[in-house]
This record gives sequence, structure tokens and C-alpha cells, in this order.
Amino acid sequence: ARIRHYKWNVKYEFRSPDCFKKLVMTINGKTPGPTIQAQEGDTVIVQVNNSLVTENLAIHWHGIRQIGTPWFDGTEGVTQCPILPGETFTYQFVVDRPGTYLYHAHYGMQRESGLYGLIRVAPLEPEPFAYDLDRSIILNDWYHKSTYEQVAGLSAIPFQWVGEPQSLLIHGKGRFNCSESPSLSTAVCDTSNPECSPFVQTVIPGKTYRLRIASLTALSALSFQIEGHNMTVVEADGHYVEPFVVKNLFIYSGETYSVIVKTDEEPSRNYWITSNVVSRNRTTPAGLGIFNYYPNHPKRSPPTVPPSPPAWDDVEPRLAQSLAIKAHQKYIHKPPTTSDRVIVLLNTQNNISGYRHWSVNNVSLTQPHTPYLIALKENITGAFDRISPPDGYDFTEYDIFNVSGNANATSGNGIYRLKFNTTVDIILQNANTMNVNNSETHPWHLHGHDFWVLGYGKGKWDVKNDTKKYNLENPIMKNTVPVHPFGWTALRFRTDNPGVWAFHCHIESHFYMGMGVVFEEGIQRVGNLPSSIMGCSHTKPFHTP
Ligand code: C2O
Ligand code: CU
Repeated sequence: ARIRHYKWNVKYEFRSPDCFKKLVMTINGKTPGPTIQAQEGDTVIVQVNNSLVTENLAIHWHGIRQIGTPWFDGTEGVTQCPILPGETFTYQFVVDRPGTYLYHAHYGMQRESGLYGLIRVAPLEPEPFAYDLDRSIILNDWYHKSTYEQVAGLSAIPFQWVGEPQSLLIHGKGRFNCSESPSLSTAVCDTSNPECSPFVQTVIPGKTYRLRIASLTALSALSFQIEGHNMTVVEADGHYVEPFVVKNLFIYSGETYSVIVKTDEEPSRNYWITSNVVSRNRTTPAGLGIFNYYPNHPKRSPPTVPPSPPAWDDVEPRLAQSLAIKAHQKYIHKPPTTSDRVIVLLNTQNNISGYRHWSVNNVSLTQPHTPYLIALKENITGAFDRISPPDGYDFTEYDIFNVSGNANATSGNGIYRLKFNTTVDIILQNANTMNVNNSETHPWHLHGHDFWVLGYGKGKWDVKNDTKKYNLENPIMKNTVPVHPFGWTALRFRTDNPGVWAFHCHIESHFYMGMGVVFEEGIQRVGNLPSSIMGCSHTKPFHTP
């Protein structure tokens, strides 16, 4: 195993990823940031210099379990104090499994300012599929308003929703139609700016490609497509999938997939790469890129109109694709057949003292300023509420199909304390929002673990009937999973990684509005915390410069 050393400088720069000029966060001048490339078992060291001048920072390594290094998970308020402007912080962790992972900022809503990128971990053993060339594409959605304006609106009375994104980016490139906003001068919005020329993936005809597709959208669920080409799904969140073929890949924020694509179409032309919003009534135009068959000119537009996306409100194909993702038959890790604890998490939207929130079992998460990991390990009292939130909701009374007042909803920072080395089931239960006949899609991401995806269902999860239908034979392991509108998703995991771990909706504004919980397991087994993660709030006395 090797050591991979990276030195990153994070700062704000003016960029026009979709022709509209705004401040974006860059790493060494780039957004998306540099790809971390390593091999299974390597140690990755990233020295991060915060040059944002007036803004804190933390970087999360999404999908890396941080076994033995829970303090380098990069989750501000949970595992570390923020990196202050002008300071340098060094992350060090082992990438213990091959596959496709992500990194992104994890302080406030700053992920959507552009600080994100890929981690590619090569395997030591051969993989269950073959390909000639390996390429990566990160999908994103893009807002023109700064995260500050968005945060101010979300925390205002009356509530101001962030709205739909202005454009969709394919590997950092999109296109906003500047003429739609005639008040914008060409200094601000200029469609002739080469920065916002479409993303081009050049391919050689007659080859087999592995495409790693990842989503780090702030809000949108996406449908990704390459015109005229089928995709065979072979990897999901770092786990091998029993291969299946799709035309559209539905992908939710925080997920990664590898698909195999053969470049065996008519080679005298180019093809469209498209991403489209699903699950919300789309007003954002499609993200368009070019699948460029060499030696055609990379900028030559395909002679066809881009393929039309699936209906935004049709849940069935999305549910079907979720259900189709199973562990590869040669790589099945069977889950324990029973669990020691079942936690049902009801996802609701509600008003708390006039403010709009998202809540889980009627508690909206507010993160404390003393990171949980430090408070628990160093026995700091008064840092957060030691009473845990509930393990379920009023199952008999609660109507998930109608708008509910949720009058008992509160804000809090209590956490779930899980017994070490036990099996825990989590049921994510979706419900109606505050608008009639409306339920959203929420991609939930668990830090520090992979979980088995035991099942998805419609309506209210019910312990008697639904547990019988769990897939205990070949469930896929993932770290991010959608809960579909008016449905439920059941997960199982082992509490075998000492630390404190966030579990939250990966929609940036939803997490900001409280849609998350925190798990602690095996805190006594956590090794000595590095002093570099301390210095804020109650942890000041523990910080030795
Ligand atoms: Cu990718 Cu806590 O997030
Ligand atoms: Cu959500």
C-alpha cells in the first residue's frame, strides 16, 4: 500500500460554469476539484488550506468509512471543529475498499458552491466485468444565488424556498440561456464564454467503456442518458451489482454508479449526453453534453434532438430501478437475519415557531457548536441534549397521505446511542409534505458505514407484513439510498465502527432545515482524538496548538 499525498488550496473565484458569472469555491483553481486516485489499502493524506478569507470549511470523504479515524470524517459539528480561514488542516485516512466515492464540503450549505469531486479506488483483485477505458462524470445542479442568500431565505419568516436550480451541470459544465434574463449584461451572463461550452466525452468507436457516474446535486433527482446507448449497471456506491441494463440511469444526490457502455453505434456522428430533473416538476432545462465518436469534431452537435426524459412524476420506473439493484452473485455479503433494534424514521415537513423545517419523528436536527465526537469522548457536559430522540412515530394515528399539522414538532440536538457490535434496522418512512398530494424523494446518506438495502415499499411500512418481504438473500450494500414519494425504505447495518456518524438527507437545503439524525456507537473504543479537530466552543481547553 502507498501513501497518496495531496495539497489543496480552497478559495473563492469568479467562474461561469453555465455562462452565468458567480463566486464558486475552487480547489487548486478547479471545480469539480481534482480526482483522488488511489488503490485499495492506500493511505490518503490531504492537506487543506482554507483560503476562503471569511468562511469556515470542512471536507467530507463520502463513502469512505474512516475505520479507526472517525475524527477525519470531515463533518463539521459532528466529528470536527471547522477549519478557520487562513488555517491548514490535514486529513489522513485509509481507502480500504475499491470503488467510486466522492468528497465535498460539509460546512453549512457550501457543498453547492462548487467544492466537490471524485475518489477512485482501484482494486487489488480483478473485477467481475471487463472494459477498455475508464471515465468519470459528476452530475450536479446549479443555482445562481449564493448559498448565503439561500440560507437567509430558508431561515426567514416568511419562508423563502430556494426554488428549482437554474441549470444542470455535467462534469462542471452547463448552459443557462442568458437571453431569458435580458437584464443581465454580457459581463455577467455570456453564452459565448468558452467556460460554458458543453461537456464533451470523446470515445473511440468499438470499445467498451466503464463510466463512473456520480451525483452531487443540491436538490435534484436526475435521469441520466446517453442517446442511442444502453448502459449496464455494474457498481453502486463501491459495491458490485448483479448486472442489469438501463436506458435511463436514475441517480440521487450522493450516489455513485459504474455503467458499462459499448461504443458500437454509427461512428460518423456524435450523440447527446443528457441529464434531466425527475421527481420534481421540472423547470430547469436539460443538462446537455456530447458523446463524441472520434474522429468527429468534438463540438459538432448531434444531428438529432436530445432524447426526451421520463415523466417527472412517474414513480414506478424509479422504484423499479431501485428494486433492480442487487449484489453481484459472486460478491454477496449476507446480512444478519435478525436485528437487535428497529428505528423507524418518519420524514415530515413542518412549521416550528413560524419557521419551516424538515423533521424526523417530529424532531428537527440543530447541530451544536461542540462536535458530538469530542463532547462524548472527552465527557464535556452541556454540549448537547443528552435525551435521545424517539425510535418511532405514532404508527396507528399518523396519516402519511395527508397534510399533518405536526404540532408537537420541536428542534433539538439529541442523538441516537447505538449499542456497539449490534445489528440495527432503519426504516425511512416518507409522508405528505405541507402541500396537498405531495411527497418528495429524499436520498439518505449514512456516514461511517455501508448498509444493506433490505427493501422498498409503498405506503406505510408495517412491521407484520413488510419485514417478511425483506431481501436477505442478495441485498446490495450502499451508503446512500432514496426514499420514494409516499413510500418507505428499509436498511440494516452493523454498529461496528466506533465513532459518531451523521445520517441525513443529502439534499443540501433539507439537511440545513433539520432533516438528519446522528448515531453514536462504541465511543469508549475511539482512540485519542487529534488536537487539530478541536478549538471551537466547549472544546477550546482540549486544543493544544
Ligand atoms: Cu455526502 Cu453528510 O454527506
Ligand atoms: Cu430531503
